[in-house]
Amino acid sequence: MQLESLKKLFIMELQDVYSAENQLLEGLQLMADAASNQELKQAFQQHLQETQGQIGRLEQIFSQLGEEAGGETCEAMQGLLAEAKEVLEMQADPDVLDAALIGCAQKNEHYEIASYGTLVTYANMMDETDIADLLQATLDEEYATDDKLTALAESTVNIRAQKGGS
Ligand SMILES: [Fe+2]
Repeated sequence: MQLESLKKLFIMELQDVYSAENQLLEGLQLMADAASNQELKQAFQQHLQETQGQIGRLEQIFSQLGEEAGGETCEAMQGLLAEAKEVLEMQADPDVLDAALIGCAQKNEHYEIASYGTLVTYANMMDETDIADLLQATLDEEYATDDKLTALAESTVNIRAQKGGS
C-alpha cells in the first residue's frame, strides 16, 4: 500500500481500528464471562453493545468515503487480547482475576483512545466534519468506559483483590 497522503494514512488507521473493534467483540465477551463482580460483568457487556455501534459508525464512514471495510489485522489488539487470554487461563482468585481483567480492558481502551484521537484530528484537518463527529462520539464512549473501569477498580475491585488475594 502506498502511503502518499494524509487521506491514505487516515484510511489505513480506520482499517486498523476497524479490525481492533471486531477483535474486541470476542475479547469483551470473554472478559464479561470471566468477571465475577456483577458491575464489572455489566460494564463489559455494555461496552460490548457499544462496540457493535462503534463498528457500525466505522462502516458508515467507510461507505461515505467509498472504501471497503476490512482486510487489515490490528496486530496491537491481537497482542493485547493474547495477553488477556493468558490471564484468563491462569488459576486465579476471582477477585484478583477481576482486577487483572480491568487492567487488560484499560489497555484496550487506551489503545482505542489513541487511535480515535488521531482519527478525529485527521478528519478535522480534512474538513470531514460529519466523519469527525462520528469518530468523536466513539472516542467519548471509550473515555467513559475507561473512567468507569477506573472507578470500579478504585472503589471495589482492587480493594477486594488486595483483601482476598494472598
Ligand atoms: Fe471501541
